[in-house]
Amino acid sequence: MTSVTEISRLVWLEVEGSIAIVVIDNPPVNASTAAVRAGIVDAIDAVENEPGIDAVVLIGAGRTFISGSDIREFDGPLAEPQMPAVISAIEACSKPVVAALHGRALGGGFELALGCDARVATQDSLVGLPEVTLGIIPGAGGTQRVPRLAGMLPALEIVATGKLVPAPQAQELGLVDHVATEDLGAEAIAYAKTLGGKKRSLKDVTVGEFDEKAFEERARQLIARGKGRSSTGHSIAALKLAKTLPFDAALTEERRIFNELRVGPEALALRHLFFAERRAGKLIKSLGGEAREIRKVGVIGAGTMGQGIATAFAQAGHEVAICDMSPEQAAAAKVAIEANINRAVERGRLDRGNAQKALGGLEAVSSISALSERDLFVEAVFEDMDVKKSVFRELDQIARPGALLASNTSYLDLDEIAAATKRPEDVVGLHFFSPAHIMKLLEIVRGTATSPDALATTLALGRKLKKSMVVARVGDGFIGNRVYAAYRREAEFLIEEGAYPEDVDAALEDFGMAMGVFRVSDMSGLDIAWAMRKRLAASRDPTERYVEIADRLCELGRFGRKTGAGWYDYSGFEGSGASDPVVRNLIDDHRMSKGITPRKIAPEEIVERMMSAIGRESDKLLSEGIAEGPEDIDLAFVRGYGFPEIKGGPLFWLKNRSTQ
Ligand code: NAI
Repeated sequence: MTSVTEISRLVWLEVEGSIAIVVIDNPPVNASTAAVRAGIVDAIDAVENEPGIDAVVLIGAGRTFISGSDIREFDGPLAEPQMPAVISAIEACSKPVVAALHGRALGGGFELALGCDARVATQDSLVGLPEVTLGIIPGAGGTQRVPRLAGMLPALEIVATGKLVPAPQAQELGLVDHVATEDLGAEAIAYAKTLGGKKRSLKDVTVGEFDEKAFEERARQLIARGKGRSSTGHSIAALKLAKTLPFDAALTEERRIFNELRVGPEALALRHLFFAERRAGKLIKSLGGEAREIRKVGVIGAGTMGQGIATAFAQAGHEVAICDMSPEQAAAAKVAIEANINRAVERGRLDRGNAQKALGGLEAVSSISALSERDLFVEAVFEDMDVKKSVFRELDQIARPGALLASNTSYLDLDEIAAATKRPEDVVGLHFFSPAHIMKLLEIVRGTATSPDALATTLALGRKLKKSMVVARVGDGFIGNRVYAAYRREAEFLIEEGAYPEDVDAALEDFGMAMGVFRVSDMSGLDIAWAMRKRLAASRDPTERYVEIADRLCELGRFGRKTGAGWYDYSGFEGSGASDPVVRNLIDDHRMSKGITPRKIAPEEIVERMMSAIGRESDKLLSEGIAEGPEDIDLAFVRGYGFPEIKGGPLFWLKNRSTQ
């Protein structure tokens, strides 16, 4: 016999014989809000006073256990009861409480489970403490309870990287007591009965001995890899309290650090990006268009980008054909894609089964007509309007109705490309960044005629590829490259006024950019931008400020790394290139010819000028409607251009810099 009591709108209590089942029902992902927490405390209170109950099972309704805290609550003071109070109520309850986990038990959700007396989890569920990736640390005992169950070294991996742990592995670590193979609820109840009414609080457990040297060494590595987030170091410091402080004192200190970081600049920046990432998902819902099924993908153009794009789709489970007009290039690309897939397996990014599937579905062809049965085409041929149009004309002939036609163009007018077909509603831009299977950013270009369901399909695909997506309207360079061009232009103004490339790059790298702007130019090659400048020279506004130094470098054959010299000298240097007297002289001569007296420019001014240039261009992009929100520009710069994520993106930084 089951009886059901509604504790609150979000929490239910069911009784099955001697077991009480507390059901959390806060769709879609059972986020821990104040109301959910209050409901759990009330349910535990009700159970405590119920004489016929021996044990409690805590379970989530719908597709998951508590997937995490509702981070919208994190900006201000947290509403009561807070998670530590909920866990205290569970610990104080005289009856054992078993957490039944499915879907995801992350952050506060996993901490709640750790505060219970045992954990039962479905085979495919995931547990973890991803707080560190949001610039905070676990604040409800995660750093103290994980080491008590799993030991200090495994706890270090979990707490300091935020990685998600599959239930079977969590069981091996002692974090989960039983992996349910059939019926989670029934198996959790059965497990609860085996406890014989006994509590198993972790309060009374001491942390096992561990190799302190190995711990310190690994901690140093993780801090170095932590993308500059101070939360990594703080999470490790909190973890160490498990050895140095009594349990309750350690919990208090952990909570203090959590609260301090929660309202600090890094956490604010990372939350800003967290919500920016979710805008694409919201757009899918608001579009209302039905996403089409995409299984077979054809990639046209088997160069650098085509290879990466094909790899990305193959790894995400699509059958991929790569096409190039040169049969040798197509064959070579297939070999390169296979190598990419095998490397992903070696690095643990792809499991063997999926790799086999990806390799099995891969083919190379040298004619577009061999691609007729594809659901999606991604064009990555030369950046030339006529070449692209002829490819799209051909695709229009062979593609089945409803197939999606995408271009990877970086700058060109997507509407003009779409007009080469009789189905512009099926044409979208899928602008990947190099290397396409590694870089997180995917800029989706919405043409004037692109239909809502074509866009919805594209967004769903991006999600499957695990990309960070921004949606742009048509305009030269879309969002990312247009803003980046303004940023690069400002760097050249700074050079003209008195800085040298190494000064600008050092200021940007100290600020946190992955690479200085001139080093990036040298890496990607100066010749492409030069060709574009020459093409646009006739139409350039003569009153517009123009710095000729890059043209002079190109005239000397200095196209960057690939020619051994660009803004820096790479001859005889393995690493990042050396500052070059030839470049300095060229810059000095240029200033002199323009009558400019150079002045020393401080690193702070360099950063301020570079970011402000981004700000000005972004204002234009937003007013032209090419970007829909400042969040998209921030996300693009962080995920595609190496802007430090702890600063939240250039526009977020400009707005909040007084507090950073
Ligand atoms: P790439 O020059 O390495 O490769 C282009 C390939 O297309 C060549 O193998 C060529 O044989 C093939 N091709 C040319 N015309 C063709 C046709 N009619 N049919 C079939 N194959 C044809 O060029 P890359 O760097 O891969 O760039 C491709 C596109 O991706 C361009 O539109 C570029 O703007 C865009 N892109 C490039 C990025 C980069 O970092 N290289 C970044 C993002 C976009």
